[in-house]
Amino acid sequence: MRSYRIAVFAGDGVGPEVIGQALRVLEAVQRQGGGFALKLTHLPWGAEHYVETGRLVPPDFLDVLRQHDAILFGAVGDPARMPDHLTLEPLIRIRQTFDQYACVRPTRLYPGVRCPLADKTPSDIDLIVLRENSEGEYVNSGGRFKQGKPEEVALQTAIHTRRGIERILRFGFDLALSRRRRLTMTTKSNAQRYGFVLWDEVLEEMRPSFPTVQADKQHVDALAMNMVRSPERFDVIVGSNLFGDILSEIGGAIGGGLGLAASANINPEREYPSMFEPVHGSAPDIAGQGIANPVGAILSAAMMLDWLELPEAAAVVRQAVERALAQRVGTPDMGGQLRTEQMTDLIIENL
Ligand code: NAD
Ligand code: IPM
Ligand code: MN
Repeated sequence: MRSYRIAVFAGDGVGPEVIGQALRVLEAVQRQGGGFALKLTHLPWGAEHYVETGRLVPPDFLDVLRQHDAILFGAVGDPARMPDHLTLEPLIRIRQTFDQYACVRPTRLYPGVRCPLADKTPSDIDLIVLRENSEGEYVNSGGRFKQGKPEEVALQTAIHTRRGIERILRFGFDLALSRRRRLTMTTKSNAQRYGFVLWDEVLEEMRPSFPTVQADKQHVDALAMNMVRSPERFDVIVGSNLFGDILSEIGGAIGGGLGLAASANINPEREYPSMFEPVHGSAPDIAGQGIANPVGAILSAAMMLDWLELPEAAAVVRQAVERALAQRVGTPDMGGQLRTEQMTDLIIENL
């Protein structure tokens, strides 16, 4: 039997609540003869850990994670107690150090799920936001000067590299080839005259290598509107780190809610572990109430199974989610009445 080492970094707020449910589903698949075994390492890191130890993560946290085949991540952030730029730093360090440059964030409107867009049906909403996840606007490059003074200056420089743009676009083209062969690149070259002009040029250079993919670009403001107005136009959307972050949240919303949205932070070369996490954050407004939607975390676990080359097991999980949602039930964020555990029970019954 194939066995995998999984680092479980559940984090804060609803993170542990939803990751606990994803683990229940993974256990059930294993029990039903999934043909694999997961060896879990539970890592008690995050804001709570900070209160107890003075550290969010231990100094060697990357070495610890590195010894695993994959990372299952919940959410971090406890804004009432700690500034977000501190609590979120380890998450960004993991993505960048492990060169998880391809952040795959699919959106599908599942049958039975209420869509906030009038007149849109499941066949209209099936897209992937592919987010550049290693550089761009998230590089820690800048500084603050004359802090607190009226003349204070803050500099935050985005770094877009030719290599970084090429590799995410190549990943996007390959993804489009496996789907409906449409790629839309986000740009903002009308205003950002260096970075996004480079994105535009690289797209033009690569286009001839993928003649069967219909590739275009849209300024990110128009694209955001079009995702809402006509999501059926999109198949694979490739965006810079920040644009991909924002657009994937629109994706979550049009797919029936952020609580359903899954993601994979992939290191395609498999040099480092990849990381799987729901798109949402720690949701402090509902944490501890037992009502968080576990589906985003469960679908992220399915993406992990795919990455571990267990496609049958991944499909079993996805089908179970689909069947459960088709019963027109859900957690309160979806307009339903199920509690977190009940939603998972229903998914497990449908495995
Ligand atoms: P959020 O994603 O935590 O919540 C936004 C809204 O969506 C809230 O109303 C919340 O209740 C709802 N929501 C989120 N997940 C849900 C779920 N599973 N089920 C039902 N409803 C859900 O975003 P926020 O409020 O802006 O941020 C809260 C904290 O999380 C901040 O500290 C932020 O920095 C952090 N954050 C972390 C991650 C991450 O760890 N990957 C991602 C985003 C935000
Ligand atoms: C996400 C989150 C993170 C991001 C934050 C919490 C740093 O919003 O995973 O989408 O911006 O990448
Ligand atoms: Mn986000």
